[in-house]
Amino acid sequence: MKVIAVYNIKGGVGKTATSVNLAAVSAFEGNKTLIIDLDPQAASSFYFKADEEKNQKKNKGWFLKDDVNDAIIETEFYNLDILPADKDIRNLEQVFKKLKKSDSWFKGLVKPVGKKYDVIILDCQPGISLISDTIFKNADVIVVPVIPTVLSLRTYEQLVEYFKEKDFKLGKLKPFFSMVEKRKKMHIESLRDFSRSHKECLNIIIPYNADVEKMGIHREPVVRFAPSSEAAKAYFKLWKQVKKAG
Ligand SMILES: Nc1ncnc2c1ncn2[C@@H]1O[C@H](COP(=O)(O)OP(=O)(O)OP(=O)(O)O)[C@@H](O)[C@H]1O
Ligand SMILES: [Mg+2]
Repeated sequence: MKVIAVYNIKGGVGKTATSVNLAAVSAFEGNKTLIIDLDPQAASSFYFKADEEKNQKKNKGWFLKDDVNDAIIETEFYNLDILPADKDIRNLEQVFKKLKKSDSWFKGLVKPVGKKYDVIILDCQPGISLISDTIFKNADVIVVPVIPTVLSLRTYEQLVEYFKEKDFKLGKLKPFFSMVEKRKKMHIESLRDFSRSHKECLNIIIPYNADVEKMGIHREPVVRFAPSSEAAKAYFKLWKQVKKAG
C-alpha cells in the first residue's frame, strides 16, 4: 500500500482537482484505490457523488473509529472507493490535544484498510495543523500543487522550512505546477526559476483549463469525461511520475 497525500498550506491551488484525477487514473490502471476526503468542505466527496446525507449519517465520526471499513463507499468507477468527508473532522484538533494521540492517529486509520488497497490518496485541507503533521510523518509521498505566483511559491518555501524545523523527511515533498497559464509571462518565468532551484519539482505542468472547472457540472474527474483534454493528459502524466516517487 502506498499513501499519497495531496497537500498545500495554501487553499484553492488545485489539491482536490489533483486528488480526484490521480485517484481515477490509479484505479483505471488497475490499482485498488481509496481516496480519503480529509477536508470538511467535502469537495472530493462531491465530485464522486458521495456527499449525500445518508452517507454523512453513516459516516459520522469515522475519523475516531478503530475500523473505518463501514464508512467506505464504492464510487461509480471500478477499483475506486471513497471515504467521504465528515464535517466533524474540524473537531479532531481538540480531540488530539486531549488524547495526545495525533502521532498514531493516521496509522490507526489506515491499518484496517491497508491490505485492501494498493493506493490511498488523501485530499488534505489547507493549513498547518496536528492533522497535517501526522500526515507529513506517515504518508509515503506528499504531492504539492503550486501555482506559479509569488504568494503560492512563498507558501512552498514555508512548507520546506516547516519540514526542516520539525525534522520531517524533505524527500517526500513533490511539488508540481498547477493552473498554469502559458500566456502569462510571470507564470512562465516563475516556473523556470522555481524548477531550477528546486530539483525535487516534478517535471509536469497542469494547465489552467476550463474542462477542470466543468468537473463540478459532470461530478466526475476530468480524466473520465474528457480524457483527451489537455488537462486530462497532464494528469495522466502526473500519475506516471507520482507512482514512481516515494
Ligand atoms: N487546472 C485547472 N484549470 C482550471 N481550473 C482549475 C484547475 N485546477 C483547479 N481548478 C479550479 O480551481 C478551484 C480550486 O481548485 P481545487 O478545489 O482543486 O483547489 P483546492 O486546493 O483543493 O482548494 P481548497 O484549499 O479550498 O480545498 C476549483 O473551482 C477548480 O475547479
Ligand atoms: Mg480541496
